[in-house]
Amino acid sequence: MANKNLTNAKKAKNDEFYTQYSDIQKEIAAYLEYNPDVFRNKVVYCNCDDPFESNFFRYFVLNFNKLGLKQLITTSYKPSPVANTQLGLFGDDKTLSKSKGRPKVTANKFIINEVRDIDGEGEFNLKDVAMQLKTNKHNEWTPLEKEGDFKSPECVKLLEQSDIVVTNPPFSLTHEYVKQLFDYNKKFVIIINKSAVTYKEIFPLIRDNKMWSGKTGWSGGLWFVTMDVDDVDKVIGGVNMKNTASAWFTNLDHGRRHQPIPLMTMKENLKYSKHKEIKGKKAYDKYVNYEAIEVPFTDAIPSDYDGTMGVPISFLDKYNPEQFEIIGMAEDNGKGFSGGIWDGKNPHCVINGENKFKRIFIRHKKR
Ligand SMILES: C[S@@+](CC[C@H](N)C(=O)[O-])C[C@H]1O[C@@H](n2cnc3c(N)ncnc32)[C@H](O)[C@@H]1O
Repeated sequence: MANKNLTNAKKAKNDEFYTQYSDIQKEIAAYLEYNPDVFRNKVVYCNCDDPFESNFFRYFVLNFNKLGLKQLITTSYKPSPVANTQLGLFGDDKTLSKSKGRPKVTANKFIINEVRDIDGEGEFNLKDVAMQLKTNKHNEWTPLEKEGDFKSPECVKLLEQSDIVVTNPPFSLTHEYVKQLFDYNKKFVIIINKSAVTYKEIFPLIRDNKMWSGKTGWSGGLWFVTMDVDDVDKVIGGVNMKNTASAWFTNLDHGRRHQPIPLMTMKENLKYSKHKEIKGKKAYDKYVNYEAIEVPFTDAIPSDYDGTMGVPISFLDKYNPEQFEIIGMAEDNGKGFSGGIWDGKNPHCVINGENKFKRIFIRHKKR
């Protein structure tokens, strides 16, 4: 039991990192470029977002009028170590319940219906957020009854009221989080770990084009502000940053997804490929037990091969559903490539010769 608690505590700590404003801005710009009205008259819900820490809240407040939002809802999560650490900004605000003279730490709900023009002079900071909430009677800031768990009935009610969910949810709960978005038929733009695409609950959604990679490229992962001083990859301007192998995922359309990957024929690849594993080699081996060829790099997919190809998971970063269909994922029985399309039960790698790679199977769309 003690062990379980420790594991949970570690998981929770690992979940505590915060998305950079510039990353949100860059990603959302892609949906706006594709459809400038994508957020117009929509209710956006950020359900793992303490407004005082979350740049999602900050981004949508700042751009509320520009995007034409109908409403912005955010809920904070009480067990978060940063919950309410900025409440000093609110002084003696009467909407907060108090305990022994200090604001009681609760999860809160923030509903923004109106944003007064922010004059653009100087930075939009936490004081501005506080000001928006305090002075605008059309906005609401109230404690939640429970902890702000995204699965709690009060948060589910807010989810039901919303159109588009945008956030970086806890990685340790990715499966439950994504399931809920589909159960409630929501549009979403979220950050998840890249490896989650191989989860048996998530891969079929990607295969069936119900969810896909966002616009920001996968290479190099994403950088976050971290609260865990024991897990810092870089300090930038005095801020602790952590890199994670994560990427944006969505069911909103964007232009990159419709751009075909530029490809050479198999013969051209063998002659000119920049990859030493392919150029001048006997590449594109067939798997022993499954009718497909091994393609170790997305940019080395032959344009003229009509059969099934095993490609790296990172193919999904470039995937265009008009160019390719995804057939399945490889299965690994622990001893070797056992053949066949992944059955949803076993881990998902293919062993090719002595190497062991995760692979998904694709085919060119019929031309
Ligand atoms: C990866 S952090 C991202 C925070 C914020 N969305 C951002 O990107 O800046 C995930 C957040 O989810 C919160 N969280 C953890 N479990 C949660 C739950 N069951 N329901 C709602 N939020 C949760 C954590 O406290 C943490 O602040």
